[in-house]
Amino acid sequence: MAVLAINGGDKVRTKGWPSWPIWDEREIKAVEDTVRSGRWGRIGENTQTEKFEQVFAEYQDAKYGIAVTSGTAALTIALKAVGVDIGDEVIVPPYTFIASATSILQNNAVPIFVDIELETRNIDPDAIEAAITPRTTAIMPVHFSGRACDMERILEIAKRHDLAIVEDAAHCWGATWNDRKLGAVGDIGGISFQASKHLNCGEGGIILTNDEELAAKAFSFHHIGRLPGRPFYEHHFIGWNFRITEFQSAVLLAQFERLEDQTQRRHENGLYLDEKLDQIDGLRALRRDPFMTRIARHAFCLLYDEETVGVPREKFMAAVSAEGVGCGGGYPHPLYKNPLFTEKRFGRITEMVEYPDYADMYLPNCEKICDIVVWLGQTMLLGTREDMDDIVAAFEKVAENVDELR
Ligand SMILES: Cc1ncc(COP(=O)(O)O)c(C=O)c1O
Repeated sequence: MAVLAINGGDKVRTKGWPSWPIWDEREIKAVEDTVRSGRWGRIGENTQTEKFEQVFAEYQDAKYGIAVTSGTAALTIALKAVGVDIGDEVIVPPYTFIASATSILQNNAVPIFVDIELETRNIDPDAIEAAITPRTTAIMPVHFSGRACDMERILEIAKRHDLAIVEDAAHCWGATWNDRKLGAVGDIGGISFQASKHLNCGEGGIILTNDEELAAKAFSFHHIGRLPGRPFYEHHFIGWNFRITEFQSAVLLAQFERLEDQTQRRHENGLYLDEKLDQIDGLRALRRDPFMTRIARHAFCLLYDEETVGVPREKFMAAVSAEGVGCGGGYPHPLYKNPLFTEKRFGRITEMVEYPDYADMYLPNCEKICDIVVWLGQTMLLGTREDMDDIVAAFEKVAENVDELR
């Protein structure tokens, strides 16, 4: 008789998982109060947006925060603030969300993809160093799923080559590198508050920096080139209207009250799962370097070895999902495999700027990780220790009965 749920056996888990977003009367009141206040946009003094910027920047160990309409907008502005311009090369990993690269393209600059480390899934500092040319102006480390990159090495490389560091800290709400929060460890960085994110207002983002001049530029760029204290219809730079609304900031302030507890819970559950799942033959936890002092775990990731387990990853994941522990494979391919890159659909800028031949690109670790990683959603990590044991039990059960999948 079949044991695995995918073949008709009993499921390990019949209960659901925490849904997302998590909210209560605080969010309702925050939005209602904002409606009643009649103050719906951020222009002016003493706004909720200003309050949120101060609270969140301080939480992230940054002096300045500029809230914007998305993480993509944050990165686009951050690059412009450090001076990235037409034809400049910006070094970025290809295992990330498209916005890490399109924010570079939006500044008419050139994404130079370099490989990641297989064990940490983060950008490889040696690969950064090898990719630097006279056209390089910035490095964009991506702390994917809130796992800190090796910032000590990246800071040293940037200093030696006089390069800016723009951190894609999109997933770094509360995550730390050597006990310091991320986003303003380099020159400037961006975080996302999109609906799936741990701090969420539907869509939104923030730029973080410790540099007063960069903060002033970023503020102006998100506010159509205006300058504080200058006339309203005086515009100094090319900018965007990337201002966030007061509704979003009100929701963020309410959501923020839960962030620290939730972050610590995901972190502790993540460590527990790493330890337990790593003991199953053919599954491996990502390497946790000592500087990854708190991991936000936007996605919980494992490495899968098909040869040891004996069945393709997709079959294994389907069987674990059928046990009531939904999991998936994440990004199907490196960023450079998207038609945007293989066909260089960047517009007429390609007549002026030289781009790498993305269609011929092959970065082995990134290619491999797309085939071997297993992702679990962040809300699962909000569960109790018993919930984590269900996750472990589902993986163990499938691993022990893998013959049923052949
Ligand atoms: C790594 C990374 N960078 C940037 C972004 C862009 O954020 P947003 O969706 O808020 O524009 C995301 C969003 O998913 C992301 O995952």
